[in-house]
Amino acid sequence: MHLAVLLFVSALSVATLALDNGEMRVPPMGWLAWERFRCDIDCEHDPKNCISENLFIDMADRLSEDGWKELGYVYVNIDDCWSSKKRDENGRLQADPKRFPGGIRKLAHYMHDRGLKLGIYGDFGTHTCGGYPGTTLDKIKIDAQTFADWEVDMLKFDGCYSNATEQEKGYPLMSKALNATGRPIGYSCSWPAYQGGLPPKVNYTQLGEICNLWRNYGDIQDSWDSVLNIVDWFFNNQDVLVPAAGPGKWNDPDMLIVGDFGLSMDQSRSQMALWAIMAAPLFMSNDLRTISSEARSILQNRMAIFINQDPMGIQGRRIIKEKSRISVFWRPLSNNASALVFFSRRTDMPYRYQTTLSKLNYSTGSYKIYDVFTGKTMTLKDSTGFVVSVNPTGVVMWHVSAPAKWNLRQFYKGGRLQGSAFDDENALPLIAH
Ligand code: GLA
Repeated sequence: MHLAVLLFVSALSVATLALDNGEMRVPPMGWLAWERFRCDIDCEHDPKNCISENLFIDMADRLSEDGWKELGYVYVNIDDCWSSKKRDENGRLQADPKRFPGGIRKLAHYMHDRGLKLGIYGDFGTHTCGGYPGTTLDKIKIDAQTFADWEVDMLKFDGCYSNATEQEKGYPLMSKALNATGRPIGYSCSWPAYQGGLPPKVNYTQLGEICNLWRNYGDIQDSWDSVLNIVDWFFNNQDVLVPAAGPGKWNDPDMLIVGDFGLSMDQSRSQMALWAIMAAPLFMSNDLRTISSEARSILQNRMAIFINQDPMGIQGRRIIKEKSRISVFWRPLSNNASALVFFSRRTDMPYRYQTTLSKLNYSTGSYKIYDVFTGKTMTLKDSTGFVVSVNPTGVVMWHVSAPAKWNLRQFYKGGRLQGSAFDDENALPLIAH
């Protein structure tokens, strides 16, 4: 098959397999309350940090005034502990009236007026993990309709207090119920996380058809140990997880904790780099009112975001795990580009890792390298040895552009590879045309 046809057909097959609500064709980006603010409902003693409409308004203001929104961070997501302990007289969920006096709908309008989106949290089960009213099978329709009436844009549907048999019914039903409201609502399913994240218990084909993203694994905490634990699980299981992801359907390794208390700056760059390689949703859980400028510049790194948001949506993988405790990760990107991350698990000193692009599976040619965190560029031939210096628990991240100029005619002469494809200055780049 002609290459262009092949690409078109494979793009189509991805498109038809994803949940058909048109949402989240690239990984969603924004802010989510849970990791940083948990279930703090003590507004009397902790008014700045308690789960209340003021917190979400503050974050919306920061997102829209501090340069986040333009970079794609548009979701402001409420997590657990937002609701009243009781449903209203019509059986509908209702926000805690003291902490959300304006109600959720008004909050959604606040977001929409600023070009932001509002996400909300529900739980399939008798109670949410924090003990608030859950959504049992008989409440799925009414809750989906309530969220749509409030004009929310995303639902994180947790799975505390339900069992595997119930979840098999509940998660697909909520997907249908959301679609039936006619409002496009991004659907985040915690289902696989409750079933161990792996086949045969978890059916990733089905998840891709009913959810836009899903939590596969345990909760992130504010520590480097927690990040490492998540990274290990995701890359140890990459053969299962990579094929599950694509436009409209994403694995979710949980929130970014950059800007909190647990990570050094090197570790923060590592989380950002690896989340970008994984095509992970980028939901920060931090305090945008007080975030340091270093943490902000990591989260606002344009190239890391550009890599994360690549429209082809192919999740990257770990390609090398060295005895020296350096690993290399790789993600293919549109326009024949790619991203590389050199990651050190060492604890001694910066390690000088020596390799060549051809050892990293790059084909013959010369490539343009952009170092994501230093902004330096260079040109590198596949066969040229190079050294990257990787800090303990840190990364070096590269955007690698395809050999600048491809000579398609020469490349495909007679349908066969003919010599070097990279040496004609006037030829066209491969996929863009
Ligand atoms: C679970 C989820 C977390 C968070 C809490 C809220 O643990 O995995 O992300 O939503 O519940 O109680």
